Amino acid sequence: MYDVVVVGKANIDYLARGAELPRPGEGINGDDFQEACGGKGANQAVGAARLGARVALIARIGNDHRGSRVLAALKADGVDASQVTCDDTAHTGVALCQVDARGNKQILSAAGANARLTAAMVRNASPLLKSCKILLCQLGVPFEAFAEAVRIARSAGARVVLDPAPGFPLPQEILRELEVVRPNALEAQAMTGLAVVDKDTARAAAQHLVEHGAKAAAVQAGKDGDVLVWRGGETWLPRFEVQRVDVTGAGDAFASALASCLAMGDELPRAGRFASASAALATTRLGAQASLPTRAQVEALLARS
Ligand code: RIB
Repeated sequence: MYDVVVVGKANIDYLARGAELPRPGEGINGDDFQEACGGKGANQAVGAARLGARVALIARIGNDHRGSRVLAALKADGVDASQVTCDDTAHTGVALCQVDARGNKQILSAAGANARLTAAMVRNASPLLKSCKILLCQLGVPFEAFAEAVRIARSAGARVVLDPAPGFPLPQEILRELEVVRPNALEAQAMTGLAVVDKDTARAAAQHLVEHGAKAAAVQAGKDGDVLVWRGGETWLPRFEVQRVDVTGAGDAFASALASCLAMGDELPRAGRFASASAALATTRLGAQASLPTRAQVEALLARS
């Protein structure tokens, strides 16, 4: 039995930090460099495992040294990687991450083997999907693979949490299967057609997602925090004050914490607050997977705040 099964991307991240992000056509000298495991799927699997959840990842890597590194990192964090399969004809996904002095980021990825995850491969992993409490997904793998995972997990009674990155409009049949959808402002806009620029517009986008089928939606409203809307209620998840270094991986920390808490029986508002604290901690260190906190670290921040 798994608390959380994740379907998503596994990458190696190459991250450079400088004073500013380069504009198109510009080259800038930075200072810090980090090469580390990443990819939203792998990050969220590791994030949930660090919070004490029993986790498995369904993903596709290349038959190369980066793929070996991905597997080693998953195993080191106690993630079941038996359904992280290897493709002989594509490279392991890579992401080029750029971070500025204020912690803002931009990322360009080359999907490689991530784009080769098929619905048939997901069906092969049915025993995992049928034995989890929460299926945690993003939209970085082929849509058919994602949709098949949702179908199998829901048929066995699992709940689905979606971090819709990259954002695009989802069919209502899929939205109806979601326990919680958690877009950032740009993803919410891509999904709903509503511009998300402040608290009111974040709330409107969250309400739209709930009216169109999701049981709950948590939408980022910039510095105002996140609005969490469900049928018949809403709450605001405030930002935790921390020293921000790099926002890469903060969304993964949020999604994995939300999924772990729901799997372990927490109510949505409590899970949301825990997820906000986890995301805040992830911004205090450089990198994605490298910055994901442990349960003790999140509980310490909650106790201080
Ligand atoms: O969410 C952060 C992740 O996005 C990075 O680890 C990178 O691999 C990209 O997929």
